Amino acid sequence: MKAKVEELNKKFKDNTPQEILEYFIKNSDENIALSSSFGAEDQVITDMMLNIDKSANIFTLDTGRLPYETYDVMDSTNLKYNVKVNVFFPNDNDVEALYKKQGINGFYESIENRKSCCFVRKIAPLKRALKGLDIWVTGLRASQSVTRVDMDAFEWDEGNQVIKFNPLISWSEEDVWEYIKKNYVPYNKLHDKGYPSIGCAPCTRAVKDGEDVRSGRWWWENPEHKECGLHK
Ligand code: ADX
Ligand code: SF4
Repeated sequence: MKAKVEELNKKFKDNTPQEILEYFIKNSDENIALSSSFGAEDQVITDMMLNIDKSANIFTLDTGRLPYETYDVMDSTNLKYNVKVNVFFPNDNDVEALYKKQGINGFYESIENRKSCCFVRKIAPLKRALKGLDIWVTGLRASQSVTRVDMDAFEWDEGNQVIKFNPLISWSEEDVWEYIKKNYVPYNKLHDKGYPSIGCAPCTRAVKDGEDVRSGRWWWENPEHKECGLHK
């Protein structure tokens, strides 16, 4: 699979994200889906995919702790494109057991607690969402984080046994916003309030001008720890 990923990186090195998405959605047998947190990057890719095919597979992981602005953009996206993005919820028994073990906001107390919460609310549902998929599309960009600088457009995800495709890997934040404005793409209103990167409400805060774009995520932890396990 590593060889296949290398081949894909070579084959598509001069193509636009739209061209590559169109190839996989229209001209290949691979089962492809976008995971969307309704962040700016995901909204760009959603617009691209739904313009290619209204029935393109887009799914979100609803952790149960999302900001209400995220539900607003979920709703406006479904309305604008006349679709219903697929939603994966956490397992009820697992959430109840998590609550018994660490309380409702236990994630602030330790990295271990935080990772358990992310596991129950995001990783386990992601595993269900990825079942049967060949290509998992994400909105990752290299300039988002120290943990993402070395990523390629195509990557082999060993843990999930799936090819990951990051169409906007080399885009800048400006590229993303230019696309959104030009194409009237709905976006999360928290972006206008100083939130460049948005996850769960209790684990995301606004950042000041010039601060790292992901510094508002799990702000009480060190930058090296700041991945929830979706992307390792
Ligand atoms: S995270 O790992 O820190 O949460 P980030 O918010 O930067 O990730 O988002 C990176 C990519 O992960 C998004 O573009 C999207 O593909 C995926 N992602 C993150 N959160 C979710 C979610 N709740 N549902 C679906 N996909 C998500
Ligand atoms: Fe839990 Fe915070 Fe992870 Fe959301 S981001 S799943 S609330 S620890």
